[in-house]
Amino acid sequence: MRKKLVVGNWKMNGSRAVNAQLLAGFKDSGPWNADVVVCVPFPYIAETALALTGSATAYGAQDCSAHEQGAFTGEVSSTMLADVGCRYVIVGHSERRAYHAESDQLVADKAKAALAHGVTPIVCVGETRSEREAGQTESVVKRQLAAVIHTLGHCCGEIVVAYEPVWAIGTGLTATPEQAQAVHAVLRAQLHAATDRASSMRILYGGSVKAENAAELFSQADIDGGLIGGASLKVGDFAAICLAAAH
Ligand code: 13P
Repeated sequence: MRKKLVVGNWKMNGSRAVNAQLLAGFKDSGPWNADVVVCVPFPYIAETALALTGSATAYGAQDCSAHEQGAFTGEVSSTMLADVGCRYVIVGHSERRAYHAESDQLVADKAKAALAHGVTPIVCVGETRSEREAGQTESVVKRQLAAVIHTLGHCCGEIVVAYEPVWAIGTGLTATPEQAQAVHAVLRAQLHAATDRASSMRILYGGSVKAENAAELFSQADIDGGLIGGASLKVGDFAAICLAAAH
């Protein structure tokens, strides 16, 4: 039985004042019988760590460099993330793939760098609307995951995978539980072919997850939790999703 994992991706939102309220409210609502993580903007990691002291909620970042250190202005290494206590980092989010032209190989290299420093990469895969309409969903997500499997080798059993259909992100359009499960099953099968740890790996669904649809999504055989954008910015909504994952 895989323990569910719920990850809040704050994206580029927040301020010191707003975050303090959000984290304090959230801390008061737990704990849940699920693993919970918040992935916050870099400047707020230290304060998040402090605000979550004594809570079971872990924290992480939304991206990391594929490089170890050196002349890479503006980048943040996974060594640094580990140094400030991050246990997770999102890599390959579709917004980074789209707006920063991140390739499958760069995403894989970032995942490798994170694992090398004990930070668990949450590797995002997902198809665009036009790719889905062209019947390419399976080939796209398999190609994205294959780069990571190839680069990590047997260590690929240590990652978290997140299936986020691009057309469902921030749009209010959610994949139906059946649509999501179908893709998760494809990803699980791909992982089985690569590692004997596939059955214990967590594959999250992301894309307009809300309190109202979380329980049904999480009840699917291969959906092991969620990667939550907008709803992770509201204490009540995020807490309700964490509760839905705890059943
Ligand atoms: P929304 O939950 O706002 O659709 O965002 C999903 C997402 O991109 C999480 O990484």
